[in-house]
Amino acid sequence: MRLRTRTAVAAAGMALALLASGCGADDGDGGAGSKKVEVFTWWADGGEKAGLDGLVAQFKTDCAQYEFVNGAVAGGAGSNAKQVLASRLQQNDPPDTFQAHAGAELTDYIKAGQIEDLSAEYKEWGLDSAFPKGLVDSLTVDGKIYSVPANIHRANVLWGNKTVLAQAGITAPATTLPEFFSQLDTLKAKGVAAPLALGKDWTQQMLFEAVLISKLGPEKFSGLWTGQTDWAGADITDAINDYKKLLSYSNKDRDTFDWTDAEKLVMEGKAAYQLMGDWEAADLDAKGFKDYNYSVFPGNGDAYQWLADSFVLPKNAKNPEGTKCWLKTLGSAAGQKAFNTKKGSIPARTDANATDYPAYQQAAIADWAKGKPVPSCPHGSACSQGWQGAVASAQGKFSSDGDVAALQSALVAAAKQYASK
Ligand code: GAL
Repeated sequence: MRLRTRTAVAAAGMALALLASGCGADDGDGGAGSKKVEVFTWWADGGEKAGLDGLVAQFKTDCAQYEFVNGAVAGGAGSNAKQVLASRLQQNDPPDTFQAHAGAELTDYIKAGQIEDLSAEYKEWGLDSAFPKGLVDSLTVDGKIYSVPANIHRANVLWGNKTVLAQAGITAPATTLPEFFSQLDTLKAKGVAAPLALGKDWTQQMLFEAVLISKLGPEKFSGLWTGQTDWAGADITDAINDYKKLLSYSNKDRDTFDWTDAEKLVMEGKAAYQLMGDWEAADLDAKGFKDYNYSVFPGNGDAYQWLADSFVLPKNAKNPEGTKCWLKTLGSAAGQKAFNTKKGSIPARTDANATDYPAYQQAAIADWAKGKPVPSCPHGSACSQGWQGAVASAQGKFSSDGDVAALQSALVAAAKQYASK
């Protein structure tokens, strides 16, 4: 009797535990045999959501046996999503797949043992030769490939409001920093009080990196992330001073703005320019704003500051087979087209047909083919998440105190702490 009671209690307890974890239940609710595939991104709105929707449509065709579940957490560059993800991973509650930038950021998850090796799937799906070798290298650790790239984005693009620029008599993009300063002066003189729209920490980091690329050139800039270029150098001090000057042309409430708030200033004609990645092309299109132009950031020449959104199979994902179907779709030619035509990025696959793409991406595909690739820290291709966080907080502090020496020492300290990790 006692034994029976204990067994019954234990069985009831186990059933409850199974229900709570979803295990053993073929209910399509995330358990074994589940049909749901939770896709975790920060693409919640505008052009980002349009890109995701394009991919989901393809997934529905290719993987009709599964159900897409949108796990998006809003906030540019994953400013909120990454924290939510970190805590879910820590609690062993991973989504079925999540967005992770190719390069050092992805390496964080690999080193922490949080994601699975996809080398066998690369072979099975014929992905080995579908992507450029350099990109596959940024997804590989110890010979194993851990992620499927969806795209290549460009970070160092300057977006302009054509009418505001024309009213100030500006008809061609600036190609050097001094020319850019003189355009910004002209705009101010014409009554555009804050001609350069800017947002918070990571967007400031992007603007600063664009200045660094102009000052150092592509090779030396890339060396900042490999220990080959000294963050303490006089050229960095110079770059910080130029960046400080640029801040004086930007909106004072920048620290409270996401990239889309800054973009709105350009759309409303309150600002003339914004430095932002080419997800802005998709977002402006999604919002129906047509009066814009774009050019590489002044002085960046043919440097193509790249980043790539890639997707992974987390350890202990509830529906690994469903995740694999998602990954196979996004790595396919059809998936990359469905996504990138809407997202502002270019396909990571090398077999894409440029004429399938809107005008912006056609130009970007041509620039990528002949440009010099340089990585981005806020978008993970250059640095780890720890390094990203250290730089973002130093930039945030600089935005209010403007202390050049303090920013430079913080950057030197961050490189010392994170460079070889
Ligand atoms: C980047 C991401 C892009 C875009 C952007 C703004 O980190 O790679 O796809 O979403 O953030 O949120």
